[in-house]
Amino acid sequence: MSTPHLQGNKGDYAPIVLMPGDPLRAKYIAENYLDHARLVNEIRGMLGYTGTYQGIPVSVQGSGMGMPSLGIYSYELYHFFDVKSIIRIGTAGGIAPEVKLRDVILGQASCTNSNYAAQYRLPGTFAPIASFRLLKAAAETAQLLQIPAQIGNLFCSDTFYDDANSLEDWAKMHVLGIEMESAALYMNAARAGKEALCICTVSDCPLRHEFTSAEERQNGFTNMMKLALETVRNL
Ligand code: HPA
Repeated sequence: MSTPHLQGNKGDYAPIVLMPGDPLRAKYIAENYLDHARLVNEIRGMLGYTGTYQGIPVSVQGSGMGMPSLGIYSYELYHFFDVKSIIRIGTAGGIAPEVKLRDVILGQASCTNSNYAAQYRLPGTFAPIASFRLLKAAAETAQLLQIPAQIGNLFCSDTFYDDANSLEDWAKMHVLGIEMESAALYMNAARAGKEALCICTVSDCPLRHEFTSAEERQNGFTNMMKLALETVRNL
């Protein structure tokens, strides 16, 4: 039974899925870190693979950029493929003063300017949060691997290029970083009764006009990927 966006059958995805934004990162992880990896999706080029890491079944599936795109893939994985846990591995812009280039952020919660929660018709504001089980495992694994990790709030924005220049206001609320997918992931997980966590490497600090090179982004990505895979092993 395929879905509108994923061609696999039930059982083609492992209970835990790592979700980079870039489908070529999914391919890279599958080819370099998973054993017995097989392609399970290539609709729209949004590559997905399932294999094992140290004997544990793991899938990696690209999400594309932004909440609508990640929202579709994570919804289908949770509801139609019996996926229990999704760990997004992406990049973020660092905005709190203590967040430095190449740091890893574990998104404990996610603020957003998106209207994604309107679909739930709640008489108030929903607070999207990470799964404590995944967050705790990731925090402990980061310590073991000696990867510096900052734990706190993300700001999940609908826009990359933004006329409002609101980042200083989010920084005043001690939000650590800006990205564009975590809130939809956390809301989909909550609604489905499943687990989610967003791990980000800091690729730029827009308020300080600091940026990483392509090589630094690759190294940062490797660190984050190891953290995500070892977190899976420590669950
Ligand atoms: N804005 C939004 N998303 C991002 C950024 C940013 O500055 N950096 C990495 N992802």
